[in-house]
Amino acid sequence: MRILVVGSGGREHALCWAIAASPLCDALYCAPGNAGIADVAICVDIGQEDLPALVGLAQREKIDFVVVGPEAPLVAGLADRFAAAGIKVFGPSSAAARLEGSKSFTKDLCRKYGIPTASYERFGEVEAARAYIRRQGNAWKDRPIVVKADGLAAGKGVIIAATQAEAIAAVEDMLSGQRFGAAGSQVVIEEFLQGEEASFFALVDGAHALPLVAAQDHKRVGDGDTGPNTGGMGAYSPAPCVTPQIAERVMDEIVRPTVRAMAAEGAPYRGVLFAGLMLTPGGPKLIEYNCRFGDPECQVLMMRLKSDLLPALIATADGGLAHFDLRWHDETALTVVMAANGYPDAPQRGTEIRGLDQAAAVEGVTIFHAGTRRDGARLLANGGRVLNVTAMAATVAEARRRAYAAVDRIDWPGGFCRRDIAWRALDAHT
Ligand code: AMP
Ligand code: GLY
Repeated sequence: MRILVVGSGGREHALCWAIAASPLCDALYCAPGNAGIADVAICVDIGQEDLPALVGLAQREKIDFVVVGPEAPLVAGLADRFAAAGIKVFGPSSAAARLEGSKSFTKDLCRKYGIPTASYERFGEVEAARAYIRRQGNAWKDRPIVVKADGLAAGKGVIIAATQAEAIAAVEDMLSGQRFGAAGSQVVIEEFLQGEEASFFALVDGAHALPLVAAQDHKRVGDGDTGPNTGGMGAYSPAPCVTPQIAERVMDEIVRPTVRAMAAEGAPYRGVLFAGLMLTPGGPKLIEYNCRFGDPECQVLMMRLKSDLLPALIATADGGLAHFDLRWHDETALTVVMAANGYPDAPQRGTEIRGLDQAAAVEGVTIFHAGTRRDGARLLANGGRVLNVTAMAATVAEARRRAYAAVDRIDWPGGFCRRDIAWRALDAHT
């Protein structure tokens, strides 16, 4: 088969790495890719936003199957375009991608179908939102108030407001349209949930859901979960907090009801469904859905996957998951994100990275590129998150030791990483 992967991050490098290893894969393309992806795929410089050019590329190169990594092109309708061109695709239709593209759509779906999530209301104008914040702010007592822009906001659309005044200011900011544009024309105001967060993944073929494995991300930029939110600074899997019993509940109470609901709403979901969960004392609750693999969660999932990825992705697109099974390594996979100095606010581009070969020689280590490019023989940083140093080992502690041993062999003064990835899992064991 001739395969095209769309995207340019560490997630797409991990997907390309797994697909390239499949005996079913004869040719692998990636648009636009990065310097690491170029080792396993033919990179074509077409951005993820240029939907017609991506379809044109697939037609020109006689692509049999397309795998879309990021959410924005899915929400914009890239899967629909491939389907219309008669090309098989992994990734939901635009209508189904509303699970990520519109928070109010997802919250209303949860309410209608009894899927556990934070209590909420949604608003399109300030006055009603303000009244709700005043009323609920008192009912929720000292807990923060969560304000979310409805649409895609590159991870910046969630404000955890400590006071009612702060929540009202956030609503005014979003609804003014200045900071989030159309993504902020609706806001969701919701209850603050307490508990441990986990990332849960399932493949969904429109009717059936096949659970993958869970992972835990680290959203804040600094050690000890401090500083601003990021796309994710590290991840590991398995996540000990997602016990088999909790995974069963997530499938029964959240994922399967969502699959049925989307089919009933006329927008059957096909692709990977990523549930951001809060494990509350009252059970698992949905924080948000994403219509794609997590980044960097995908990197640890691909390390742990023993089975061939490609047949699973094809079965997802074909409606063939009812009797599908996947096998996983029991070991822990852990990834440390190395980011360019200044990330997330103003990452510095163009600094040189050395020593990757020595780093990749550490036992159990694979390095995925997130934002890199080549300049002759030199490897340069070309984004906020730049490298994902990923290790597998029998224990969390050993996976972490290996990952940081590799990090310490990388010569890159222009970058940094967190030093405490998987602290929750290690605390739980000591
Ligand atoms: P998101 O951009 O939707 O992933 O949200 C960013 C982060 O905000 C999440 O990872 C959570 O840590 C936090 N968050 C979002 N909604 C809630 C909520 N209702 N209660 C507590 N934390 C939340
Ligand atoms: N790492 C979280 C995400 O991909 O949204």
